[in-house]
Amino acid sequence: MSFDAVDVIRTKRDKGELSDGQIDWVIDAYTRGDVADEQMSSLAMAILLNGMTRREIARWTAAMIASGERMDFAKLSRPTADKHSTGGVGDKITLPLAPLVAACGVAVPQLSGRGLGHTGGTLDKLESIPGWRAALSNAELMNQLEDVGAVICAAGDGLAPADKKLYALRDVTGTVEAIPLIASSIMSKKIAEGTGALVLDVKVGTGAFMKDLADARELAETMVALGTDAGVRTVALLTDMSTPLGLTAGNALEVRESLEVLAGGGPADVVELTVALAAEMLAAAGVTDVDPAEKLRDGSAMDVWRRMIAAQDGDPDADLPVAPEQHVVKAEQSGVLSRLDALAVGVAAWRLGAGRARKEDPVSPVAGIELHAKPGDEVTAGQPLLTLHTDDASRFDRALESLADAVDIGTAYEKQPLIIDRVTA
Ligand code: URA
Repeated sequence: MSFDAVDVIRTKRDKGELSDGQIDWVIDAYTRGDVADEQMSSLAMAILLNGMTRREIARWTAAMIASGERMDFAKLSRPTADKHSTGGVGDKITLPLAPLVAACGVAVPQLSGRGLGHTGGTLDKLESIPGWRAALSNAELMNQLEDVGAVICAAGDGLAPADKKLYALRDVTGTVEAIPLIASSIMSKKIAEGTGALVLDVKVGTGAFMKDLADARELAETMVALGTDAGVRTVALLTDMSTPLGLTAGNALEVRESLEVLAGGGPADVVELTVALAAEMLAAAGVTDVDPAEKLRDGSAMDVWRRMIAAQDGDPDADLPVAPEQHVVKAEQSGVLSRLDALAVGVAAWRLGAGRARKEDPVSPVAGIELHAKPGDEVTAGQPLLTLHTDDASRFDRALESLADAVDIGTAYEKQPLIIDRVTA
Protein backbone atom coordinates (compact mmCIF):
# COMPACT_ATOMS: atom_id res chain seq x y z
CA MET A 1 0.00 0.00 0.00
CA SER A 2 1.24 3.52 -0.72
CA PHE A 3 0.84 6.59 1.50
CA ASP A 4 1.70 10.23 1.18
CA ALA A 5 4.77 11.33 3.19
CA VAL A 6 3.18 14.66 4.09
CA ASP A 7 0.09 12.88 5.50
CA VAL A 8 2.33 10.67 7.65
CA ILE A 9 4.20 13.75 8.94
CA ARG A 10 0.90 15.58 9.64
CA THR A 11 -0.45 12.61 11.61
CA LYS A 12 2.49 12.70 14.01
CA ARG A 13 2.72 16.51 14.01
CA ASP A 14 -0.92 16.59 15.20
CA LYS A 15 -0.16 14.05 17.97
CA GLY A 16 -1.92 11.18 16.20
CA GLU A 17 -0.90 7.51 16.10
CA LEU A 18 0.75 6.17 12.96
CA SER A 19 -0.92 3.06 11.55
CA ASP A 20 1.07 -0.13 10.92
CA GLY A 21 0.69 0.51 7.19
CA GLN A 22 2.02 4.07 7.45
CA ILE A 23 5.05 2.91 9.45
CA ASP A 24 5.91 0.01 7.13
CA TRP A 25 5.57 2.27 4.13
CA VAL A 26 7.56 5.23 5.42
CA ILE A 27 10.54 3.10 6.57
CA ASP A 28 10.62 1.16 3.31
CA ALA A 29 10.15 4.24 1.12
CA TYR A 30 12.85 6.16 3.04
CA THR A 31 15.32 3.29 2.71
CA ARG A 32 14.66 3.14 -1.04
CA GLY A 33 15.02 6.93 -1.38
CA ASP A 34 11.34 7.61 -2.21
CA VAL A 35 10.85 9.62 0.99
CA ALA A 36 13.31 12.53 1.05
CA ASP A 37 15.72 13.33 3.90
CA GLU A 38 13.86 16.57 4.67
CA GLN A 39 10.57 14.66 5.01
CA MET A 40 12.11 12.01 7.26
CA SER A 41 13.81 14.64 9.41
CA SER A 42 10.49 16.42 9.83
CA LEU A 43 8.86 13.15 10.89
CA ALA A 44 11.75 12.38 13.29
CA MET A 45 11.30 15.82 14.89
CA ALA A 46 7.54 15.23 15.26
CA ILE A 47 8.33 11.89 16.94
CA LEU A 48 10.86 13.58 19.24
CA LEU A 49 8.28 16.18 20.26
CA ASN A 50 5.14 14.02 20.43
CA GLY A 51 6.44 10.52 21.22
CA MET A 52 5.19 7.13 20.09
CA THR A 53 3.01 4.44 21.67
CA ARG A 54 4.46 1.02 22.46
CA ARG A 55 2.68 -0.37 19.41
CA GLU A 56 4.16 2.26 17.14
CA ILE A 57 7.69 1.68 18.51
CA ALA A 58 7.35 -2.10 18.06
CA ARG A 59 6.14 -1.69 14.47
CA TRP A 60 8.85 0.89 13.67
CA THR A 61 11.49 -1.53 15.01
CA ALA A 62 10.04 -4.45 13.01
CA ALA A 63 10.03 -2.34 9.84
CA MET A 64 13.71 -1.44 10.33
CA ILE A 65 14.59 -5.11 10.92
CA ALA A 66 12.71 -6.03 7.72
CA SER A 67 14.81 -3.50 5.75
CA GLY A 68 17.81 -5.86 5.86
CA GLU A 69 19.09 -9.36 6.63
CA ARG A 70 18.52 -11.28 9.82
CA MET A 71 21.21 -13.58 11.16
CA ASP A 72 20.49 -16.97 12.69
CA PHE A 73 22.71 -18.74 15.20
CA ALA A 74 20.39 -21.70 15.80
CA LYS A 75 22.91 -24.14 14.28
CA LEU A 76 25.62 -23.31 16.85
CA SER A 77 26.32 -25.96 19.47
CA ARG A 78 25.87 -23.49 22.34
CA PRO A 79 23.40 -20.76 23.27
CA THR A 80 24.14 -17.13 22.40
CA ALA A 81 24.01 -13.94 24.44
CA ASP A 82 25.04 -10.40 23.65
CA LYS A 83 25.41 -7.14 25.55
CA HIS A 84 24.74 -3.60 24.43
CA SER A 85 25.84 -0.51 26.30
CA THR A 86 24.28 2.86 25.57
CA GLY A 87 27.81 4.24 25.82
CA GLY A 88 29.95 5.94 28.41
CA VAL A 89 33.41 7.22 29.22
CA GLY A 90 35.98 4.50 29.89
CA ASP A 91 33.40 1.84 29.05
CA LYS A 92 35.68 -0.99 27.93
CA ILE A 93 33.50 -3.70 29.49
CA THR A 94 32.84 -5.55 26.20
CA LEU A 95 36.55 -6.39 25.95
CA PRO A 96 36.82 -8.59 29.04
CA LEU A 97 33.11 -9.54 29.01
CA ALA A 98 32.86 -11.29 25.62
CA PRO A 99 35.71 -13.76 26.29
CA LEU A 100 34.55 -14.24 29.88
CA VAL A 101 31.02 -15.27 28.87
CA ALA A 102 32.45 -17.54 26.15
CA ALA A 103 34.70 -19.16 28.77
CA CYS A 104 31.52 -19.95 30.72
CA GLY A 105 29.97 -21.83 27.76
CA VAL A 106 27.79 -19.20 26.06
CA ALA A 107 28.72 -17.85 22.61
CA VAL A 108 28.92 -14.07 22.23
CA PRO A 109 28.26 -12.52 18.78
CA GLN A 110 29.17 -8.93 19.55
CA LEU A 111 28.58 -6.82 16.45
CA SER A 112 29.90 -3.40 17.39
CA GLY A 113 30.27 0.12 16.10
CA ARG A 114 32.84 2.84 16.09
CA GLY A 115 32.75 5.73 18.54
CA LEU A 116 31.22 9.08 17.73
CA GLY A 117 31.65 12.08 20.04
CA HIS A 118 32.93 11.68 23.59
CA THR A 119 32.16 7.96 24.07
CA GLY A 120 34.65 5.51 22.61
CA GLY A 121 33.82 2.69 20.21
CA THR A 122 34.74 -0.92 20.91
CA LEU A 123 36.21 -1.43 17.42
CA ASP A 124 38.43 1.65 17.81
CA LYS A 125 39.80 0.19 21.03
CA LEU A 126 40.55 -3.23 19.53
CA GLU A 127 42.16 -1.66 16.46
CA SER A 128 44.98 -0.44 18.72
CA ILE A 129 46.12 -4.10 18.84
CA PRO A 130 48.64 -4.62 16.02
CA GLY A 131 47.12 -6.60 13.12
CA TRP A 132 43.59 -6.91 14.53
CA ARG A 133 40.86 -6.83 11.89
CA ALA A 134 37.27 -5.66 12.53
CA ALA A 135 35.64 -6.79 9.27
CA LEU A 136 34.58 -10.46 9.09
CA SER A 137 32.42 -12.26 6.55
CA ASN A 138 29.31 -14.01 7.88
CA ALA A 139 31.09 -17.38 7.37
CA GLU A 140 34.13 -16.22 9.39
CA LEU A 141 31.85 -14.94 12.13
CA MET A 142 30.03 -18.28 12.35
CA ASN A 143 33.26 -20.33 12.37
CA GLN A 144 34.83 -18.16 15.07
CA LEU A 145 31.70 -18.34 17.20
CA GLU A 146 31.75 -22.14 17.00
CA ASP A 147 35.53 -22.52 17.54
CA VAL A 148 36.38 -19.72 19.98
CA GLY A 149 32.93 -18.77 21.32
CA ALA A 150 33.43 -15.00 21.15
CA VAL A 151 33.53 -12.54 18.26
CA ILE A 152 33.75 -8.76 18.42
CA CYS A 153 33.52 -7.41 14.89
CA ALA A 154 31.99 -4.69 12.74
CA ALA A 155 28.27 -4.98 12.06
CA GLY A 156 27.86 -5.55 8.32
CA ASP A 157 25.90 -3.15 6.11
CA GLY A 158 23.15 -5.73 5.69
CA LEU A 159 21.77 -5.38 9.24
CA ALA A 160 18.93 -2.84 9.54
CA PRO A 161 20.05 -0.53 6.68
CA ALA A 162 17.04 1.71 7.40
CA ASP A 163 18.55 2.48 10.79
CA LYS A 164 21.93 3.27 9.31
CA LYS A 165 20.38 5.91 7.07
CA LEU A 166 18.03 7.26 9.72
CA TYR A 167 20.68 7.43 12.47
CA ALA A 168 22.97 9.50 10.20
CA LEU A 169 20.05 11.84 9.50
CA ARG A 170 19.12 12.16 13.20
CA ASP A 171 22.73 12.96 14.00
CA VAL A 172 22.57 16.15 11.90
CA THR A 173 18.97 17.19 12.63
CA GLY A 174 18.92 17.33 16.44
CA THR A 175 16.70 14.24 16.69
CA VAL A 176 19.03 11.68 18.27
CA GLU A 177 17.55 12.17 21.76
CA ALA A 178 14.05 10.76 21.08
CA ILE A 179 13.58 7.68 23.29
CA PRO A 180 11.36 5.81 20.73
CA LEU A 181 14.00 6.40 18.04
CA ILE A 182 16.95 5.41 20.27
CA ALA A 183 15.17 2.26 21.47
CA SER A 184 14.11 1.17 17.98
CA SER A 185 17.55 1.98 16.54
CA ILE A 186 19.44 -0.13 19.08
CA MET A 187 16.95 -2.99 19.21
CA SER A 188 16.48 -3.31 15.44
CA LYS A 189 20.20 -4.02 15.11
CA LYS A 190 20.33 -6.38 18.08
CA ILE A 191 17.24 -8.36 17.05
CA ALA A 192 18.45 -8.58 13.42
CA GLU A 193 21.82 -9.81 14.73
CA GLY A 194 20.04 -12.96 15.91
CA THR A 195 21.24 -13.30 19.51
CA GLY A 196 19.13 -15.54 21.76
CA ALA A 197 19.59 -13.39 24.87
CA LEU A 198 20.49 -9.75 25.35
CA VAL A 199 21.66 -7.74 28.34
CA LEU A 200 21.44 -3.97 28.07
CA ASP A 201 23.70 -1.68 30.07
CA VAL A 202 21.80 1.60 30.15
CA LYS A 203 24.08 4.32 31.46
CA VAL A 204 22.87 7.24 33.56
CA GLY A 205 24.81 10.40 34.39
CA THR A 206 26.80 13.25 32.89
CA GLY A 207 28.89 11.01 30.63
CA ALA A 208 25.84 9.13 29.27
CA PHE A 209 23.18 9.78 26.65
CA MET A 210 20.61 9.75 29.42
CA LYS A 211 21.46 12.32 32.06
CA ASP A 212 18.63 11.46 34.45
CA LEU A 213 17.33 8.26 35.94
CA ALA A 214 13.69 8.61 34.82
CA ASP A 215 14.72 8.89 31.13
CA ALA A 216 17.18 6.01 31.44
CA ARG A 217 14.49 3.84 33.03
CA GLU A 218 12.02 4.66 30.27
CA LEU A 219 14.63 3.78 27.62
CA ALA A 220 15.49 0.53 29.42
CA GLU A 221 11.83 -0.48 29.81
CA THR A 222 11.11 0.29 26.16
CA MET A 223 14.07 -1.76 24.94
CA VAL A 224 13.36 -4.69 27.27
CA ALA A 225 9.75 -4.80 26.01
CA LEU A 226 10.90 -4.68 22.36
CA GLY A 227 13.40 -7.50 22.86
CA THR A 228 11.01 -9.67 24.84
CA ASP A 229 8.21 -9.24 22.28
CA ALA A 230 10.65 -10.28 19.53
CA GLY A 231 11.50 -13.52 21.40
CA VAL A 232 14.91 -12.37 22.68
CA ARG A 233 15.37 -12.89 26.44
CA THR A 234 16.21 -9.30 27.41
CA VAL A 235 17.26 -7.72 30.73
CA ALA A 236 18.67 -4.25 31.43
CA LEU A 237 20.91 -2.88 34.15
CA LEU A 238 20.84 0.85 34.89
CA THR A 239 24.43 1.80 35.75
CA ASP A 240 26.17 4.95 36.89
CA MET A 241 28.07 7.09 34.38
CA SER A 242 28.68 10.22 36.44
CA THR A 243 32.39 9.38 36.61
CA PRO A 244 34.51 7.36 34.14
CA LEU A 245 34.55 3.58 34.44
CA GLY A 246 37.91 2.28 35.61
CA LEU A 247 41.10 4.29 35.43
CA THR A 248 41.46 4.84 31.67
CA ALA A 249 39.60 6.47 28.77
CA GLY A 250 41.21 6.06 25.33
CA ASN A 251 41.79 3.21 22.94
CA ALA A 252 45.09 1.43 23.74
CA LEU A 253 44.83 2.59 27.38
CA GLU A 254 41.50 0.78 27.72
CA VAL A 255 42.84 -2.39 26.08
CA ARG A 256 45.67 -2.39 28.61
CA GLU A 257 43.20 -2.06 31.49
CA SER A 258 41.02 -4.84 30.05
CA LEU A 259 44.06 -7.11 30.00
CA GLU A 260 44.60 -6.38 33.70
CA VAL A 261 40.99 -7.46 34.36
CA LEU A 262 41.47 -10.64 32.29
CA ALA A 263 44.64 -11.34 34.28
CA GLY A 264 42.59 -11.31 37.50
CA GLY A 265 43.34 -7.70 38.56
CA GLY A 266 42.11 -4.33 37.30
CA PRO A 267 39.96 -1.61 38.86
CA ALA A 268 37.18 -2.79 41.19
CA ASP A 269 34.37 -1.04 39.28
CA VAL A 270 35.34 -2.60 35.94
CA VAL A 271 35.53 -6.05 37.54
CA GLU A 272 32.19 -5.56 39.34
CA LEU A 273 30.33 -4.55 36.18
CA THR A 274 32.00 -7.19 34.00
CA VAL A 275 31.05 -9.97 36.42
CA ALA A 276 27.50 -8.63 36.95
CA LEU A 277 26.83 -8.37 33.21
CA ALA A 278 28.36 -11.81 32.62
CA ALA A 279 26.07 -13.32 35.27
CA GLU A 280 23.04 -11.68 33.61
CA MET A 281 24.07 -12.93 30.15
CA LEU A 282 24.61 -16.46 31.43
CA ALA A 283 21.27 -16.50 33.26
CA ALA A 284 19.44 -15.12 30.21
CA ALA A 285 21.05 -17.88 28.12
CA GLY A 286 19.97 -20.51 30.65
CA VAL A 287 23.42 -21.22 32.18
CA THR A 288 23.25 -20.95 35.95
CA ASP A 289 25.94 -23.33 37.23
CA VAL A 290 29.12 -21.41 36.30
CA ASP A 291 30.67 -18.62 38.38
CA PRO A 292 32.06 -15.94 36.02
CA ALA A 293 34.27 -14.44 38.78
CA GLU A 294 36.07 -17.79 39.00
CA LYS A 295 36.63 -17.87 35.21
CA LEU A 296 38.33 -14.47 35.44
CA ARG A 297 40.50 -15.62 38.34
CA ASP A 298 41.55 -18.96 36.84
CA GLY A 299 42.71 -17.52 33.48
CA SER A 300 40.04 -19.20 31.30
CA ALA A 301 38.70 -15.83 30.11
CA MET A 302 42.25 -14.70 29.21
CA ASP A 303 42.74 -17.91 27.17
CA VAL A 304 39.58 -17.12 25.15
CA TRP A 305 40.71 -13.49 24.72
CA ARG A 306 44.02 -14.62 23.21
CA ARG A 307 42.27 -16.98 20.79
CA MET A 308 39.65 -14.34 19.92
CA ILE A 309 42.31 -11.72 19.08
CA ALA A 310 44.48 -14.18 17.12
CA ALA A 311 41.47 -15.43 15.11
CA GLN A 312 41.07 -11.87 13.78
CA ASP A 313 44.79 -11.58 12.90
CA GLY A 314 45.70 -9.60 16.02
CA ASP A 315 48.86 -10.38 17.96
CA PRO A 316 47.87 -10.89 21.61
CA ASP A 317 51.55 -10.65 22.64
CA ALA A 318 52.36 -7.43 20.77
CA ASP A 319 53.23 -4.33 22.76
CA LEU A 320 50.42 -1.78 22.73
CA PRO A 321 51.33 1.66 21.36
CA VAL A 322 52.20 4.40 23.87
CA ALA A 323 51.65 8.17 23.46
CA PRO A 324 54.78 10.21 22.75
CA GLU A 325 53.34 13.26 24.56
CA GLN A 326 52.07 13.18 28.14
CA HIS A 327 50.92 15.88 30.55
CA VAL A 328 50.17 15.42 34.24
CA VAL A 329 47.35 17.28 36.02
CA LYS A 330 47.98 17.58 39.77
CA ALA A 331 45.61 18.00 42.72
CA GLU A 332 45.33 21.65 43.72
CA GLN A 333 44.53 20.89 47.35
CA SER A 334 44.39 18.02 49.82
CA GLY A 335 41.14 16.29 50.74
CA VAL A 336 38.68 13.72 49.44
CA LEU A 337 38.11 13.59 45.68
CA SER A 338 34.36 14.16 45.71
CA ARG A 339 33.68 14.53 41.95
CA LEU A 340 35.49 13.61 38.75
CA ASP A 341 33.11 14.36 35.93
CA ALA A 342 32.65 11.74 33.22
CA LEU A 343 31.60 14.11 30.45
CA ALA A 344 34.57 16.46 31.01
CA VAL A 345 37.00 13.52 30.92
CA GLY A 346 35.30 12.08 27.82
CA VAL A 347 35.44 15.38 25.95
CA ALA A 348 39.08 15.89 26.98
CA ALA A 349 40.02 12.38 25.76
CA TRP A 350 38.21 13.13 22.51
CA ARG A 351 40.08 16.44 22.08
CA LEU A 352 43.36 14.59 22.67
CA GLY A 353 42.50 12.47 19.61
CA ALA A 354 40.82 9.38 21.11
CA GLY A 355 37.44 10.00 19.43
CA ARG A 356 36.04 11.38 16.22
CA ALA A 357 33.77 14.34 15.41
CA ARG A 358 32.58 12.91 12.06
CA LYS A 359 32.29 9.24 11.27
CA GLU A 360 34.97 9.44 8.56
CA ASP A 361 37.61 10.88 10.96
CA PRO A 362 40.58 8.73 12.04
CA VAL A 363 41.19 8.11 15.75
CA SER A 364 44.48 7.93 17.60
CA PRO A 365 45.20 4.58 19.25
CA VAL A 366 47.37 6.20 21.93
CA ALA A 367 45.36 9.29 22.92
CA GLY A 368 43.37 9.36 26.14
CA ILE A 369 43.41 9.95 29.86
CA GLU A 370 44.67 7.93 32.78
CA LEU A 371 43.10 8.58 36.19
CA HIS A 372 45.28 8.28 39.28
CA ALA A 373 42.39 8.66 41.74
CA LYS A 374 38.67 7.94 41.79
CA PRO A 375 35.87 9.68 43.69
CA GLY A 376 36.14 8.73 47.36
CA ASP A 377 39.97 8.56 47.35
CA GLU A 378 42.04 10.80 49.66
CA VAL A 379 44.38 13.01 47.66
CA THR A 380 47.19 15.37 48.68
CA ALA A 381 47.98 18.72 47.06
CA GLY A 382 50.47 18.27 44.24
CA GLN A 383 49.85 14.55 43.66
CA PRO A 384 49.08 13.47 40.07
CA LEU A 385 45.33 13.20 39.42
CA LEU A 386 45.29 12.62 35.67
CA THR A 387 47.80 11.94 32.90
CA LEU A 388 46.80 13.18 29.45
CA HIS A 389 48.15 11.16 26.50
CA THR A 390 48.35 12.31 22.87
CA ASP A 391 50.45 12.19 19.69
CA ASP A 392 50.18 15.96 19.32
CA ALA A 393 51.13 18.30 22.21
CA SER A 394 49.16 21.18 20.63
CA ARG A 395 46.00 19.32 21.73
CA PHE A 396 46.70 19.70 25.48
CA ASP A 397 45.26 23.23 25.82
CA ARG A 398 41.78 22.36 24.53
CA ALA A 399 41.73 19.15 26.57
CA LEU A 400 42.69 21.07 29.72
CA GLU A 401 39.88 23.58 29.03
CA SER A 402 37.40 20.71 29.18
CA LEU A 403 38.89 19.57 32.49
CA ALA A 404 38.83 23.06 34.08
CA ASP A 405 35.72 22.31 36.16
CA ALA A 406 35.90 18.51 36.18
CA VAL A 407 37.22 17.93 39.69
CA ASP A 408 35.97 18.74 43.21
CA ILE A 409 38.11 18.05 46.26
CA GLY A 410 36.24 18.37 49.56
CA THR A 411 35.89 16.75 52.93
CA ALA A 412 33.28 14.07 52.28
CA TYR A 413 32.04 11.75 49.56
CA GLU A 414 28.82 9.80 49.47
CA LYS A 415 29.41 6.60 47.54
CA GLN A 416 26.83 5.95 44.80
CA PRO A 417 26.08 2.39 43.70
CA LEU A 418 27.55 1.48 40.30
CA ILE A 419 24.58 -0.77 39.50
CA ILE A 420 21.53 1.36 40.20
CA ASP A 421 18.71 -0.97 39.18
CA ARG A 422 17.68 -3.93 37.08
CA VAL A 423 14.82 -3.85 34.57
CA THR A 424 13.03 -6.99 33.39
CA ALA A 425 9.91 -7.59 31.30
N1 URA B 1 22.95 4.10 19.51
C1 URA B 1 22.27 3.64 18.45
O1 URA B 1 22.61 2.62 17.87
N2 URA B 1 21.16 4.33 18.06
C2 URA B 1 20.74 5.44 18.68
O2 URA B 1 19.75 5.99 18.28
C3 URA B 1 21.48 5.91 19.77
C4 URA B 1 22.58 5.21 20.17
